[in-house]
This record gives sequence, C-alpha cells and structure tokens, in this order.
Amino acid sequence: MNFLELAKKRYAVRNFLTKKVEEEKLMLILEAGRVAPTGANMQPQELIVVQEESGLEKIKKAANIYSAPLVIIICGNKNSVWRRPFDGKDLIDIDTSIVTDHMMLQATELGLGTIWICYFKPEVIKQEFSLPEHVEPINILGIGYAAGKAASSDRHTERRKPLKEIVSYEIFQH
Ligand SMILES: Cc1cc2nc3c(=O)[nH]c(=O)nc-3n(C[C@H](O)[C@H](O)[C@H](O)COP(=O)(O)O)c2cc1C
Repeated sequence: MNFLELAKKRYAVRNFLTKKVEEEKLMLILEAGRVAPTGANMQPQELIVVQEESGLEKIKKAANIYSAPLVIIICGNKNSVWRRPFDGKDLIDIDTSIVTDHMMLQATELGLGTIWICYFKPEVIKQEFSLPEHVEPINILGIGYAAGKAASSDRHTERRKPLKEIVSYEIFQH
C-alpha cells in the first residue's frame, strides 16, 4: 500500500471491537510518535497511554471515546516548545498534531482503526491525570479494531473539497 492509498483508507472510526491492541502494535505506534518532526526538534509531546478500565473510565468523564480499547492522550509540554520570536506563537498544537497524525497513520497501516478527538473537557483530563500546570492535553487518539463496515477509500471525491477550491498558484485566489 503506498502512502496515498493508506491516507485514503484511514477514516474516523466510531465503533470498535472489544479486542485489545497487541503490545507490539502499540510499540510501533508510539515509535511513530517518537520520530515525528517537531519545531526546532523541541519534542514537546507527552503521551499518556491508557488501556486499563479505570483509566478509560477517567477519560470518559471528559470525552466520548467510542469504546476504543486503547487511548493515547497527546499532551504538550509548554516548558519545552519552540516559540516564534516575532509574535511569541508557540508550536504546541502543531507539534502534538504531527505526532498524533504519525501515530494515527501508523495504526492504520497496522490494520487498526482510529478516532482523533478534540471534543473533550481539558480541565477534567488535567484533573483526572494529575497533569502539572505546564502540561496541556491537546489531542486524544482512540485506537482499536474497527467494528462495522469500513468507509470507502473513494469517499474523498464527495467528502473533500476539490483541489481547485483549496490551492492557488503564485497568488492567493479564493
Ligand atoms: C483535529 C481533529 C479533531 C477531531 N475531533 C473529533 C472529535 O472530537 N470527535 C469526533 O467524533 N471526531 C473528531 N474528529 C474526526 C473528524 O470529524 C473526521 O476526521 C472528519 O469528519 C473526516 O472524516 P474521516 O476522518 O472519516 O475522513 C476530529 C478530527 C480531527 C483531524
């Protein structure tokens, strides 16, 4: 499967089997998150892997995780992130989202389904997982074996804007 085939195959899974994700697969997913690029190589990602029922219950207080048996909370360390000197903008959202995307696509390649979740109560996650002040939960990634019918790789014809609506050449045209 080439990269574009993989990217088109991935879809937001909102129904998972109870089957656990194998340890070897989890380690490959985490490795993909480790090698992801980050601004100035500051590596602000802090990953909390949750598979035990007690931990999943804590996350459920903050978000719908669609019964994913494995959840990774992708946090960013505000003390270890690059800031652009011109306006002070930090790359915490960008860096942690690249990490999340790397892990999501690695999981897809391993035959797993994923759901990227931003609709969560950050204060609840911070409290339930005793996050220090400088560590911010940015993304939640649910991972597991997908239940039900897979979305079609061809759905992007309808479900995504055509290139001409999102790309301009040489000058901004939209
Ligand atoms: C940054 C981001 C945040 C998302 N947050 C949620 C979420 O909180 N809950 C949810 O059900 N889906 C969430 N999604 C999934 C998107 O709704 C989904 O990827 C999008 O509708 C496209 O569908 P597809 O992934 O099946 O192609 C999120 C996706 C991204 C990239």
